[in-house]
Amino acid sequence: MSRKKESILRNRFSKKNNDIFTEINTSIDFDKLLFNEDIEGSIAHAEMLAKQKIISNSEKNKIIKGLKKIQIEIKKNKFVFRSELEDIHMNIESRLQEIIGDTAGKLHTARSRNDQVVTDLKLWLRKDIDMILEELKILKKIIIKNAEKNINVLMPGFTHLQSAQPISAGHYYMAYYEMFMRDTERFIETRGRLNKNPLGSCAMAGTSFKIDRFLTTKKLGFDKPTNNSIDSVSDRDFVIDFLYSASTCAMHLSRIAEEIVLWSSNLVNFCEIKDDMMSSSSIMPQKKNPDAAELVRAKASLINSNLSSMLGIMKSLPLSYSKDLQEDKKLVFDSSSNLHISIKVITEILKSLKLNKKNLHLSAAQGFSNATELADWLVKNLKYSFRKAHTVTAKIVNFAEKNSLKLEDLTLDQFRKFDAKFSNKVFKDLNIKNAVLSKTSYGGTSQIEVIKMIKKAKKINK
Ligand code: ARG
Repeated sequence: MSRKKESILRNRFSKKNNDIFTEINTSIDFDKLLFNEDIEGSIAHAEMLAKQKIISNSEKNKIIKGLKKIQIEIKKNKFVFRSELEDIHMNIESRLQEIIGDTAGKLHTARSRNDQVVTDLKLWLRKDIDMILEELKILKKIIIKNAEKNINVLMPGFTHLQSAQPISAGHYYMAYYEMFMRDTERFIETRGRLNKNPLGSCAMAGTSFKIDRFLTTKKLGFDKPTNNSIDSVSDRDFVIDFLYSASTCAMHLSRIAEEIVLWSSNLVNFCEIKDDMMSSSSIMPQKKNPDAAELVRAKASLINSNLSSMLGIMKSLPLSYSKDLQEDKKLVFDSSSNLHISIKVITEILKSLKLNKKNLHLSAAQGFSNATELADWLVKNLKYSFRKAHTVTAKIVNFAEKNSLKLEDLTLDQFRKFDAKFSNKVFKDLNIKNAVLSKTSYGGTSQIEVIKMIKKAKKINK
């Protein structure tokens, strides 16, 4: 191991850091992930300083050359990260000093780590959100494909996990499409709101140097500079927005994961997960376990906790910057990596998920799932009020249940015991295929409606 390097931040102190202080204060173990963004931000800052004649062109060139060398060193794993230098910003600046000498000290003119770290994190999140959006797009495409393939597969729809009404499996898939579409929108909004440049806010008050914040804004691809230097260094709303978007998306992934676990259980047997996404048991040779889906379910909880932690960190912070804010990156990186793998896992499972059509169909017809059809028939054909129809239908269901019959198995005579005006036409409406076909209200489960929604979704997700 190389010797410890004295921090360039300790000018005010005569003694070196207490090791325990270093241990709590350092963030390099996790914020080294920001090295690309830190260098990108520093290059833009140096170019602006030169353009504003705050540093010379040759100094700028020297600085940029040194920064690019450091970037390669880090990429090639040749960079020695030092915890006594606290964070990624000071590690890079210190190395720059070694490479180009005292000119390195000019880079921090009209800048503070307080605006630097927010800039880095915003740049990092922008890229990360773009990756999440790409992954969500692939997931949505798979869902649309599965919806299209299973549009004529009938399955039970549940409320309270009790049979409710028969539905199209395509409609079911498209319910998840809607959720992931909203997640997509949430991430796009988060990205849009965070894309304002904090660089130049410095420690918290701005600077007397004649900097050009619009120039760094343009160079770094931000939409505009932030308006208030105090807010700029203490704002972590964008982190909360991101963690909230991630939490909601993870919650959706967890719901589908839960259904996959439930459906693939031999108790339910609605679907089969492909072997390559399952594990086995060390003792029970017959086992095929849905571990990946279970882990997605658990990860949603970890992601949610990060949102709660961040809100907790922020809620009592006086303006402006406090070191509490350093912990935000841990939460962001953790939520991000858990979310990436969760999206990929659900995508992989859905790609090869086999629906057990026979079981789904059988189950769709059970639990008097066509009782609402019977009540509706009475309203439409015998002019009942819906309340009266509901009462009579409940009585018919009780009668059928007592005799171990389905509604469609009752004879016309049996129906007529409840109302003499019953006609044979009722049997057509009780058929579950017809029940699904008839739900043509906008957004309903009829195949005609589902096809329309699939078409719309395909257009958006080309
Ligand atoms: N590592 C710090 C962070 O992530 C950098 C910010 C500035 N530190 C400071 N002591 N003012 O928040």
